[in-house]
Amino acid sequence: MSKIIPILASVSFILTTLICCQQPKEKVSSRYPNGGSELAWLMRDATDQMEAQRNAILKGQSFQSIFLNADHILTAIPTEEGKTASKDYQQKADQFLKHIAQQKDIPLEGQMNYFNSTVSLCVNCHETQCPGPNVRIKKLYIDKI
Ligand code: HEC
Repeated sequence: MSKIIPILASVSFILTTLICCQQPKEKVSSRYPNGGSELAWLMRDATDQMEAQRNAILKGQSFQSIFLNADHILTAIPTEEGKTASKDYQQKADQFLKHIAQQKDIPLEGQMNYFNSTVSLCVNCHETQCPGPNVRIKKLYIDKI
């Protein structure tokens, strides 16, 4: 049993990576022994933080204690060389950073709308830059009651 979990984890990781961006394997495994580029890890952490914010909102709590951190989105090394150099990526990343810089100022009653617009910005960049994860990202949306 204890051996199955790491195997499942690696299989699901490999699948995500393949779906997301094709890339030469040796380069990734030598530079990132734990698998995944700097940008991929930033994105995974961002996804965890978004899930935590979502849970807080659903419980009626403030997400202020769980900040979304994507400070290095413009400079983190991507899996595919040059991926983040395009004008489209840079503009969307910049817009994303400006949006999340407002997190600390959003009062509780505005947090659901704000959170959903954060998700829209994730989706917006992913549509052109890396469509694979959008299935998972769209599940973050909170339905308005
Ligand atoms: C400015 C563009 C941009 C924005 C904004 C963005 N992403 Fe990404 N995302 C990418 C790119 C490019 C990759 C591919 C990274 C790589 O393989 O190095 C990626 C990868 C991912 C992955 C796959 C990571 C892996 O395991 O390989 C997930 C999940 C993800 N993003 C979730 C999110 C979420 C959630 C948000 C919003 C909080 C978000 N992204 C915002 C461009 C963006």
